[in-house]
Amino acid sequence: MRKVIIDVDTGIDDSLAILLALESPEIDIVGFTTVSGNVEVNQATRNTLKTVQMTGKSVPVYKGCNLPLVKSYIDATDTHGADGLGETFYELLKYEPEEQYAVDFILQTIKENPDEITLIALGPLTNIAMAIQKDIKTLSLVKQIILMGGAARYHGNCSPVAEYNFWVDPHAAEIVFKSGLDITMVGLDVTHKIVLSPNIREIIKQFKTPLSQFIYDITQFYVDFHWKQERTIGCVINDPLVIAYLIRPDIISFNYGKVLIETEGIAVGQSVVDFSKKETNTKIVMDVDVKEFFNIFLKRLFPNNLE
Ligand code: BDR
Ligand code: CA
Repeated sequence: MRKVIIDVDTGIDDSLAILLALESPEIDIVGFTTVSGNVEVNQATRNTLKTVQMTGKSVPVYKGCNLPLVKSYIDATDTHGADGLGETFYELLKYEPEEQYAVDFILQTIKENPDEITLIALGPLTNIAMAIQKDIKTLSLVKQIILMGGAARYHGNCSPVAEYNFWVDPHAAEIVFKSGLDITMVGLDVTHKIVLSPNIREIIKQFKTPLSQFIYDITQFYVDFHWKQERTIGCVINDPLVIAYLIRPDIISFNYGKVLIETEGIAVGQSVVDFSKKETNTKIVMDVDVKEFFNIFLKRLFPNNLE
């Protein structure tokens, strides 16, 4: 079993990624850490707790940074809804995050488990950059960082060239890519292929379980957003691909390159990727077997409905 910490800014696709991770026996989730991104950190923490509670499991949730390092904070409630979970305005059993600050939890856990912890980052990289700044010696004992953000080919959802997680906190992304740590980047140009189609959504609804209804409900806002925004049918779910990659690395192809982050100006948040191989700092996901992704996703979340 692989020990992981999952850092989230829980909006709709983070929630789906959390569910997939919780239902995957290969992954031992030591804790979730939260950060401001899609929604501000208190709401991201609520949404993380709600998602964990949907599975009946118990994994600690640690609250982290509420603002990007330098840039002013801009949420993504236009995409994920005012509550970050598609304006379902759900009820929470209890709001009980852990007392320890997420950045300290990350550092302490890595120190106690040298070369064993994989850090999964599904939101802006503020918590990870703070941990690097606070104690790079400890953070260099991390086994690997796998993150959703940026793009290998020029592709953006906040500008023509910038992806949301890097765009929200480009200075944090820059610190992470300059850290010398072992980084895998799962970018928007690949996650964009993971479209939850109306067909798959309706199949999920037909499973008629509390979890299937939850997924159907939280994705409705996302579907409406995609239609309004770009006249596409269905919705792109970015973050679960990182978890699927952990479970089945064979569904993905990759290349090595050097990633630099633009922190200022019209291209702020852009990941500039050089594949000339003179110097590399990142393993970069290049393509995915979409059909196999959905096989994994559905079989893990609904094993009893797919026998
Ligand atoms: C990323 O930004 C967020 O809106 C999603 O949760 C995902 O992590 C995609 O650009
Ligand atoms: Ca996210």
